[in-house]
Amino acid sequence: MRHLLDTTDFTVKEIDSMISLALDIIENGEKYAHICEGKKLATLFFEPSTRTRLSFEAAMYELGGHVLGFSEASSSSTSKGESVADTIRIVSNYADIIAMRHPLEGAPRVALTKTLVPLINAGDGGHTHPTQTLTDLLTIYREKGTFDNLTVGLCGDLKYGRTVHSLIKAMCRYNNVRFVLISPEELRVPDYMIKEVLEPCKADYVEVETMEEVMEELDILYMTRVQRERFPSEEEYLKHKDAFILDNKKLENAKESLTIMHPLPRVNEIAVEVDADKRAKYFEQALNGKYIRMALILTLLNMKNEDVKEKNETLVINEMRCKNPRCICNNEALEHVFKKSETDSSFRCIYCEEKFLDK
Ligand code: CP
Repeated sequence: MRHLLDTTDFTVKEIDSMISLALDIIENGEKYAHICEGKKLATLFFEPSTRTRLSFEAAMYELGGHVLGFSEASSSSTSKGESVADTIRIVSNYADIIAMRHPLEGAPRVALTKTLVPLINAGDGGHTHPTQTLTDLLTIYREKGTFDNLTVGLCGDLKYGRTVHSLIKAMCRYNNVRFVLISPEELRVPDYMIKEVLEPCKADYVEVETMEEVMEELDILYMTRVQRERFPSEEEYLKHKDAFILDNKKLENAKESLTIMHPLPRVNEIAVEVDADKRAKYFEQALNGKYIRMALILTLLNMKNEDVKEKNETLVINEMRCKNPRCICNNEALEHVFKKSETDSSFRCIYCEEKFLDK
């Protein structure tokens, strides 16, 4: 049985196959209309969502299957104190595949230990959002016809923006991709993204504080929302909420072939006037989310265990404590488990990937 916790759980070849499948679904939808008859998808959304939940549900219906689940934690037994592990153990008796979103980082990793059916991470706190990344990859492929030789600008809240973390991890695996990381100092990508992802891949990256200084270089501009719900205080959020607003004026020097993306929802970081620009592709991107989730459901329902490569991780249990208050291990009765870094002598929490800091 295979699961999707992080985009890199799939090889580049497997992602290529999923994109090809999504393209075939787009062209020949009727071929797939009954393929999941008798199958059930559970959508467990402990955190709000419009696109991810509804596109998963639309995807399963368009494959001929059924959907069950909840759209807020308060309508599940989580409100009575049930753990993620128990919830997943129970729901995997009722469904053939589960998509879950949770506000705590690493919650899907806990779910993985109990599920009896394929599990999909539909977003965990500020950590990762792999199905958004698959959506983004399909969009990039449909717009550019390749993943290689692209200059990708990622703009906004790169600290808490989980879609950015997942997209960087995925795009690092292609050839000659240059990352332009556009954010204020306080919202830079987390340290582990630099040390564990960009540097080991020898990725070409630069960090800047304004989009104007790099606009003309970009093939893709990936805008993100400042993640209000993840800031430690409202005051901190207010300081950054208007950090970047893309409007027609800022696009004056952009390439004609630029693709403007956004995982949505937007607040004010893209002015509505930009929607009329032919380079704005964020609504098409949201539609692509349904097609790639159809491909993902089909792929996971058919994948066998033997396709998985064993991860050779050195784990240390309960000798260190995770300091991330948003990590699942600080919110439920769980062991604190760390893995040794492959690149240096540091340890990272297996759930949220925060580095162990001895202070
Ligand atoms: N892009 C995205 O994850 O949107 P939702 O939060 O509406 O699912």
